[in-house]
Amino acid sequence: TVLVVDFGAQYAQLIARRVREARVYSEIVPSTMPVAEMLAKNPAAIILSGGPSSVYAEGAPTVDRALFEAGVPVFGMCYGFQLMATTLGGTVDNTGAREYGRTPLHVSRSGSTLFEGTPDEQSVWMSHGDACSAAPEGFQVSASTDVVPVAAFENDEKKLYGVQYHPEVMHSTHGQQVLEHFLYRGAGLKPDWTTGSVIEEQVAAIREQVGGKRAICGLSGGVDSAVAAALVQKAIGSQLTCVYVDHGLMRKGETEQVEKDFVAATGVQLKVVDASERFLSALAGVSDPEEKRKIIGREFIRVFEQAQAEIVAEGSGDVEFLVQGTLYPDVVESGGGSGTANIKSHHNVGGLPEDLEFQLIEPLRKLFKDEVRMVGQELGLPDEIVQRQPFPGPGLGIRIVGEVTKDRLDLLREADAIAREELTAAGLDRDIWQCPVVLLADVRSVGVQGDGRTYGHPIVLRPVSSEDAMTADWTRMPYDVLAKISTRITNEVADVNRVVLDVTSKPPGTIEWE
Ligand code: XMP
Repeated sequence: TVLVVDFGAQYAQLIARRVREARVYSEIVPSTMPVAEMLAKNPAAIILSGGPSSVYAEGAPTVDRALFEAGVPVFGMCYGFQLMATTLGGTVDNTGAREYGRTPLHVSRSGSTLFEGTPDEQSVWMSHGDACSAAPEGFQVSASTDVVPVAAFENDEKKLYGVQYHPEVMHSTHGQQVLEHFLYRGAGLKPDWTTGSVIEEQVAAIREQVGGKRAICGLSGGVDSAVAAALVQKAIGSQLTCVYVDHGLMRKGETEQVEKDFVAATGVQLKVVDASERFLSALAGVSDPEEKRKIIGREFIRVFEQAQAEIVAEGSGDVEFLVQGTLYPDVVESGGGSGTANIKSHHNVGGLPEDLEFQLIEPLRKLFKDEVRMVGQELGLPDEIVQRQPFPGPGLGIRIVGEVTKDRLDLLREADAIAREELTAAGLDRDIWQCPVVLLADVRSVGVQGDGRTYGHPIVLRPVSSEDAMTADWTRMPYDVLAKISTRITNEVADVNRVVLDVTSKPPGTIEWE
């Protein structure tokens, strides 16, 4: 395992993902963890992430010198680099010479472990105020910039390495190569971690955990719960029952996909509860987004509990385990306690109340999303499920701005199906992160169709590009694809006479409208 020490500011997750892309297993630990505890995990290497602080700021996180003296290879990035420099006796000055964004890096490759085979000049992503002017004793300086004399240093003997920039971000053109040089050449690791090994490991662990008992799993139609269920099914077969609550807020074809394709691919026992009437009546007259989310979450839990009671009554033996598709970023974020503001109350429909008396099975809690997809693929799940774009638990309920009614849902389902169909036909469905289609149910505008005046509703297209949904940009989609979607929606969906494009990034806009 490679430990990524998190100094804050969201860099650690990206670094951990890049390490795994190099097919080396990695985990994130907080910078507050005592060094002895880190070393007790027997790490094959340690990476110190960037962070928001200056090493000279009061209360700035530090690291015990022992970390560098344990014989474990260490790679410091940005803040981690400066920390390494100051801890080991180098000089970091508060020069006021800031560098932000793309910066040319001058590399001296001779004898360099990190930069071998990369160009003399490369573009890197910088974000720092302080600058290292002298490397610690015994270190070779292998890169500089116009502003910073020491932008990378290395010590092969002690296996300590550092770079001032962020090799993990895409703007650092040779960043992945440099990271891999550290892992393979510096730390002597082999690229042998695969998702196949995850499956074997998890199947064995789940069998051990569950024994002869029974488990249930809520399927949401999304990737995570589907892959988690398939993995558990592989481990314990008929001891698992899945529950799918049809809240009537799914998109066209999605319920059928779960009922037919997923069951066919996995052979799982599935209980489908059609609760659409119940959700519709609970949502009647409600337009406030947060209230809608609360109602949907509440009703979901009630329906699920009822289904669970039925499953317990039907089968032999108690149901003691609940399968959840928790992913690694959720684990890091909830354990990190970084106090990020709760912007919307996210109901993971498929996620459940805390007072249920279950033991959890969370077979994906060490995986990132792209790895979950690989596991799903390896388990033989259909592409339509494995490659599915994110879709919120509350479904179309939060894509109708205004009250949710059956007619409005049907209308939005049609518009959404057209948009998805055209995005797929244009080969864009894997490039964009997701494309919510939103109905502005309380807005009407004047139009003309045929010979007559219309007074219909607008549909909003919200295609976004993102790596993790925390930030996003609106996707610059080809005009002809937009035109096609717009023409088809206004022609084929009654009561819609206008299609508009959302050109807001996140922040300030969230991805969903509610
Ligand atoms: P926002 O709108 O907050 O969305 O920018 C970020 C990502 O989360 C998805 N989303 C949800 N997913 N339950 C979910 O499981 C929810 O309640 C929920 N609300 C938003 C959204 O689709 C986007 O991918």
